Order: sequence, then C-alpha cells, then structure tokens
Amino acid sequence: VAAERGGYPHFMLKEIHEQPKAIRDTLIGRIAEGRDGVELAELGWPAGFAENMDRIHIVACGTSWHAGLVGKVWIEQLARVPVDVEIASEYRYRDVLRTPRTLMVVISQSGETADTLAALRAAKEGGYRVLAITNVVGSSVAREADDVIITWAGPEIAVASTKAYTTQLVALLLLAIHLGLARGTLAADKAREMLQALDNLPQLADQVLDTAPQLAQFAERYKDAHDTFFIGRGLDYAVALEGALKLKEISYIHAEAYAAGELKHGTLALITEGVPVIALATQPHLYEKTMSNIKEVKARDAFVLGMTFVGNEDLAQVVDEVIYLPQTLPVLAPVLAVIPLQLLAYYAAVARGNDVDKPRNLAKSVTVE
Ligand code: G6P
Repeated sequence: VAAERGGYPHFMLKEIHEQPKAIRDTLIGRIAEGRDGVELAELGWPAGFAENMDRIHIVACGTSWHAGLVGKVWIEQLARVPVDVEIASEYRYRDVLRTPRTLMVVISQSGETADTLAALRAAKEGGYRVLAITNVVGSSVAREADDVIITWAGPEIAVASTKAYTTQLVALLLLAIHLGLARGTLAADKAREMLQALDNLPQLADQVLDTAPQLAQFAERYKDAHDTFFIGRGLDYAVALEGALKLKEISYIHAEAYAAGELKHGTLALITEGVPVIALATQPHLYEKTMSNIKEVKARDAFVLGMTFVGNEDLAQVVDEVIYLPQTLPVLAPVLAVIPLQLLAYYAAVARGNDVDKPRNLAKSVTVE
C-alpha cells in the first residue's frame, strides 16, 4: 500500500497533489483547435437539443452535489438556461416538475451511488435524456445514461473526494461553455478567453499546492476548535460548502458554510472571540460586499483566514491571515480555491490523529440507500 501511495503518507494527500494532472487529463482533446470551441463528441444530442433545452436538473450527492452548485452558476451565466441542483435522495422521492425540454444531469464520481442511480432511472422512465458526469468508465451511471462525460481524475481511493471534485468542475465548465456557444449566449472571444485560462489552470493549481505549509500551520493551531465557519458569496459560497464538508468528514470538527450575506440572519450569534472563520473573497463583483461581512465577523473577534487573488492587498488589512491564489479569470476561481480548503481539512485530520483516508462512519461509495 505504501508503494501505491507513491511516497505520500495518505492517499488523500497524493490525490490532492494529483489535481494539476487530473485537470489536464480532463481537458485533453476537449478544447478545439484555436480554442474556437469545446469538443464534446461524447454528447450524442440530436440537432437543436442544446438550443432548445429550457431547464436543467443537476442531481447528485455529497461532494458531487457541491460541484453541481458551482455548475449551476456557470451554466446560468454562460448558457442562460435555468438550472436546479438537487440532492438525489430528495429528488427521487419528490413529485418533480420537469418541462418536456428538461436536460437531466447526474454527477457521480463512482457512478454507483444508489440515490443518484435511482434519480437517473426515474428520469429515464419519464423519457428524459440523461447526461452523466462520472469518473468511472463502465459504472452503472455511465452505462445507463444516454450521454457520458468522463472525468479523467484516475482512481480516487481516499473517502474524502478531492481530484474528482475539481475535474467535475472542469467538465461542468466545458459543458457551460459548449452550451453557451451553441445557444449564442456566449461570445466567441469570451469563450476563447476562458478556454485559454482553462489551459493554464493545471499550472496554477500546481502553484496553489504551495500553500500547504500555511494551511498545516493554521490546522495545527485550530485543531481543537469546536466550530468553524466558511463564508463567501456566489461561487465562493458553493466552494465554502465543499470546504466545510471536507473539514467535517475527516477532522470531525464541526464546520458550517454560510452565504456571507445571510450571516446576519442567525449565524452571526455564534461568532465569538477566537472562532475560526474561513472567508472566501475571489469574485470582483462581490468583493466589497464580502469585505463588509468579514468586517462584521472581525468586529466579534473571530480569527479570520481570508482567501483572495494575488493583488487584492486590502484584505490583509482586515483579516488575520490571507491565502493568495494566482491570477486567473474569476469565473475559474472555484477550481483553485478549493485546494487550500482540502489541505486545511487534511492537515487538521492529521493533527488530530485521525484515520485520514478512512474516516469513521463514512464510505467511499454508498451503493445502498
Ligand atoms: C460518499 C462519499 C463522498 C461522495 C458521495 C457521492 O458519501 O464519501 O465523497 O461525494 O458519496 O459519491 P459519488 O460517487 O456519487 O460522487
């Protein structure tokens, strides 16, 4: 097993470090020559399908559901289709409202999650076309869906998902760009700019891994915390949810993600002196708003670890510590921003002496209900 871990003490750390390669592999062959578009030959959609769809339902569990939340923001922004993102165990038992032109998207790393599979089957029975985003070729989800986008993350062994999530994001962004171009809602030059930025992403992800010592130190300091909060707005909120889940799963520290603007409606009551708050502020159009929320938690003496792009120097004057992400298009921030959060969870679990790769009560794949 030590050999399989490739010199890393845990699979999770190995998989975190494999993300630059996993992102690159997921992009291979999917960016058209001259970055004129997205190549998704695996979509066997009939003519007019992309243009005519009027609603998308994204259904998934756990980390894959969190990827879907990011996907919603991207698809609505770039392709102007309304997107609902749902937890599979809820979706499958609800009297779901679909339009005849709804596209169903299921996201599942393993392709075997019982609830996700059940939601897929129900949609198929209703006559809907299902697109699966999965990491496992030949999995149940891959076999039963009409169309499949494979994420090329490679086998993920640690229970806490890392590289599967980042590659799900890449697949979703490619899908959003593809839909945007097909529907005429995304200009070709904007698409080209994004595809160029996507091309550079593996290299930037590699740079983000250098934040590891900073996160290890933070984790050591806060390993006995009872509660932690992850805040952000927009895409940052979606990433905050995944950051909080990672921390809960493997460190067993209670973590809650909150939309930063919603804090004042309740959660602010829990912010007291020394409570660690991880604040994401990567989105320019939300930066000032998030800043004022950060000031609110600082006014209650929370210990704030901020995250933003290099160049936003003013954050450092407000928070206790800052993690800087290398510059890229803000729309791509989630793929980079999640990496320090994965590292934080990892080092917190290590500092607490937990079984990082096999956390208590959790399974890699939940194939029974
Ligand atoms: C389990 C795993 C999670 C995963 C979830 C959904 O709970 O521990 O890491 O996100 O299942 O799995 P899937 O394979 O469908 O993405």
